[in-house]
Amino acid sequence: MGVGIFDSGIGGLTVFKEIAREFPKADIYYLGDTARVPYGSKSKETIIRYSIEAANYLRGFSIDALIIACNTASSYALDILKEKMDIPVIGVVEPGVEMALKYTKNNKVGVIGTTATIRSNSYKRLLQEKGIQVYQKPCPLFVPLVEEGITEGKIAEMIVKEYLDDLVKEGIDTLILGCTHYPLLKETIKKLYPDINIVDSSQAITQFLHKEEINLQGNGIREIFITDKTESFEKFKKLLVGDIPLKKIELSQLCSL
Ligand code: DGL
Repeated sequence: MGVGIFDSGIGGLTVFKEIAREFPKADIYYLGDTARVPYGSKSKETIIRYSIEAANYLRGFSIDALIIACNTASSYALDILKEKMDIPVIGVVEPGVEMALKYTKNNKVGVIGTTATIRSNSYKRLLQEKGIQVYQKPCPLFVPLVEEGITEGKIAEMIVKEYLDDLVKEGIDTLILGCTHYPLLKETIKKLYPDINIVDSSQAITQFLHKEEINLQGNGIREIFITDKTESFEKFKKLLVGDIPLKKIELSQLCSL
């Protein structure tokens, strides 16, 4: 069984890595839209258009399920893609919420993400339906920080504290990392706030696949497509998933609908 995974850039490779580990035989086709990253500062219409284009591109491969590994795209385009695609489409929001519900004891959950994800209230809505008090905050500096490889040390800690101290003061016991880049800051967040449970999309999604009994099988094919070749993508790809070669595609291959 093949699975397509897309993200605006490198962050979704955290999801790729977990899925590859949990389902070693799965055929995985990944698209990172590195030419158009970030999605998190774009309008709803643009995020939806980019997501449809990415989904259509991956549908050209032998895939039986599509995972939207981008929180921003999941927040705006999940329903539309579920309607348009003839295969199951899974976003990262619902799995993240499920995991947070398992963790929280005091029903106070923090959600951090891109400006667009927080504006969409995608996490907040689902959590509030379950009676959870939600404290959310966009953390726009986290994505460039991760892209620059500054995931630990003084500067990373300073910026993490600047965004998260207020949330933690609200008494949250669980924090959803509602952006695929943020798991790379997990160790720093854990170091600063050791008592907070951290929900990471990549782990949430594999748990969700198991729960839904979606068993990804295949021949272990691994393909990674990107719309622009950047040094930071190459570096993170190596760090996260090793030597899988990157295949650069033209943006016009995505746009031709
Ligand atoms: N992948 C995006 C997300 O998970 C973060 C980067 C972006 O803004 O495109 O929301």
